[in-house]
Formats: sequence, structure tokens, C-alpha cells
Amino acid sequence: MKVTVDGEEITTTPRTISALLLERQQHHGLFCGIGVCFGCLVEVNGTPEVRACQRALAEGDDVRTHR
Ligand code: FES
Repeated sequence: MKVTVDGEEITTTPRTISALLLERQQHHGLFCGIGVCFGCLVEVNGTPEVRACQRALAEGDDVRTHR
């Protein structure tokens, strides 16, 4: 699938946003990994404060880390 991360289009496999960002070393924090700490917030398709560890990537997602 194709998604965009901070303006860069990339091809990736289905997984959580956290998993992708960790692989790319673009994550600003992974803490609990189970949706409790809110340490992994990103913007997805214009929606702010999405927990990256709880959101599966979908085709065409536009992810902003605001780093
Ligand atoms: S890592 Fe804790 S809510 Fe995502």
C-alpha cells in the first residue's frame, strides 16, 4: 500500500502506524504500545491526536508526525 509520511510518499505493508514510524526512525515516542499513555500521537488525514499504536495503516493515509 502507498501512504504519505510527513509529505513523503512511501510503499509499505499493512501494520500499525507506530510500527512503520519506528522502522523509519520517525517516531517521537513509543511508550506503552497499547493505547494507554497517549505518547504516540500523530495527525492522520487531517485528524489530530490519533494514537499511532492503535491505528492500522490504510491505503492513501496522510500521516503527519509534526517533528
Ligand atoms: S504508545 Fe501509548 S498510547 Fe500509543
